[in-house]
Amino acid sequence: MLNIVLFGPPGSGKGTQSEKLIAAHKLVHLSTGDLLRSEIAQKSELGIKAKIIMDRGELVSDDIVIGMIRNKINANLDSNGFIFDGFPRTVAQAGALDKVLAETGKAISLMVTLEVPDEEVIQRLLKRGEQTGRADDNMATIENRLNVYLCQTSPVKDFYEKQGKYHPVQGLGTIEEIYERIESEIKKVG
Ligand code: AP5
Ligand code: MG
Repeated sequence: MLNIVLFGPPGSGKGTQSEKLIAAHKLVHLSTGDLLRSEIAQKSELGIKAKIIMDRGELVSDDIVIGMIRNKINANLDSNGFIFDGFPRTVAQAGALDKVLAETGKAISLMVTLEVPDEEVIQRLLKRGEQTGRADDNMATIENRLNVYLCQTSPVKDFYEKQGKYHPVQGLGTIEEIYERIESEIKKVG
């Protein structure tokens, strides 16, 4: 079983690379951002609350996202593995994920971090905002998302480094080049 945490700042290419990894390894995609956006589209009670937080670029509470992930894992116990995209985003989420996986005898195989400088992610997200109209792809929210990443999310790297599972990858280049770099990290643990 291959369980990958795909990590990196907003706009680093987590969603883009997830698609390729899912196709190659037949993994179940667990993106908390996508799950929350689907709640917003359904105008559920959770979606209405989450939208206010996401529009500011802040983090939705740990309890909510951990609950969402737990349900998805338990509904897909016979899969080839999972790709966690945009989760965990706090050390508390990382600890909770290990616990949920351990309950069913599973564990994270590796954590791949896409390293992309701020100037590049800002350009990518502004462009995506123009193309898709995603509400949080505007300059003020992007700046806050980068700040939240630095303060609350980047400590998650140390969590996996201590477990010997941290694999940084250069996130600049073509989508195919970056994908090949990720695959060579996966081979190291397989
Ligand atoms: P989330 O949806 O996870 O957003 P994010 O982390 O800000 O990341 P993005 O989805 O913006 O970027 P990405 O890394 O997926 O890049 P992509 O492949 O799209 O979270 C949104 C919000 O939800 C959070 O702010 C928070 O409020 C909440 N939330 C989510 N999870 C949470 C959690 N666990 N806890 C608490 N709150 C949570 O690529 C970006 C663009 O670049 C695309 O247009 C793409 O086409 C382009 N691109 C990709 N690769 C390349 C390349 N190699 N060269 C040039 N362009 C490229
Ligand atoms: Mg994404």
